[in-house]
Amino acid sequence: MNQTTTKAEQRMPQEPAEENEQTDHATERERAPIVVASQIHKTFRSGEIEVHALRGVDLTIGTGEMVAIVGPSGCGKTTLLNTLSGLDSFDGGEVTIEGTSLAKMNDRRRTDYRARRMGFVFQSFNLLPVISAVENVEMPLLVSGVRPARARKRALESLDSVGLADRASHRPMQLSGGQNQRVTIARALVNHPALVWADEPTGNLDVGSSTEVLALMQRLNKERGQTFVIVTHDPQVAALCERIVRMEDGEIVDDE
Ligand SMILES: Nc1ncnc2c1ncn2[C@@H]1O[C@H](COP(=O)(O)OP(=O)(O)OP(=O)(O)O)[C@@H](O)[C@H]1O
Ligand SMILES: [Mg+2]
Repeated sequence: MNQTTTKAEQRMPQEPAEENEQTDHATERERAPIVVASQIHKTFRSGEIEVHALRGVDLTIGTGEMVAIVGPSGCGKTTLLNTLSGLDSFDGGEVTIEGTSLAKMNDRRRTDYRARRMGFVFQSFNLLPVISAVENVEMPLLVSGVRPARARKRALESLDSVGLADRASHRPMQLSGGQNQRVTIARALVNHPALVWADEPTGNLDVGSSTEVLALMQRLNKERGQTFVIVTHDPQVAALCERIVRMEDGEIVDDE
């Protein structure tokens, strides 16, 4: 394979091999894995009550995949995203991201890794209401030490990529729900993450806004090869993903 690699391919390592004759065989799952989870268990305990939220989940996500995670409320989807992304701990099993086990990273390294390589579109990571859209978007860059002028420039580019360049100085209150969701996406993408985790990214949106947000995620997936893992109840979202992982009661029951 390497011997037949052309100079053009060497110059463009990110280019998806779509027109390549290998495509039929090189299914999504055979791409280099970015996340490998094996036998993940997670139990929540509060007082007498134990909830076994993840019961031995095995999941491999290939670089550049766009995966939907679906299943009934309470089946463990958010818990799965939290544990796979290193936001929350787990009780058993192993998660490897880009070849490194999460368990082998200390807190600081995990945080640093997240800031550099991951983006989050989570409803619990709300925008700060008292600062403008561009200030919200540049926040992760400032946190990871990017100089302010450079952070501002990249934040404006990111807002532009979600079609909100002209709303940069607006505060969340002065934007619609769909626009705020796009600001959240601009913030998640500002560091050009290899891996984006989204939990119900279209949850609070009307049909028009959710179509826009979806089109944006799909474009970034295709053009930049960014990997998206999207928890969703929305059939429109799942239909756009090349792979649908179905969970029930803490387990993966279907993967197509
Ligand atoms: N912090 C917690 N403490 C105790 N139990 C929890 C906690 N977080 C989640 N759970 C329980 O774990 C199970 C899985 O929850 P999770 O939030 O992952 O579900 P979900 O599939 O994301 O559901 P939804 O579609 O409603 O968002 C649920 O039974 C929930 O009650
Ligand atoms: Mg959830």
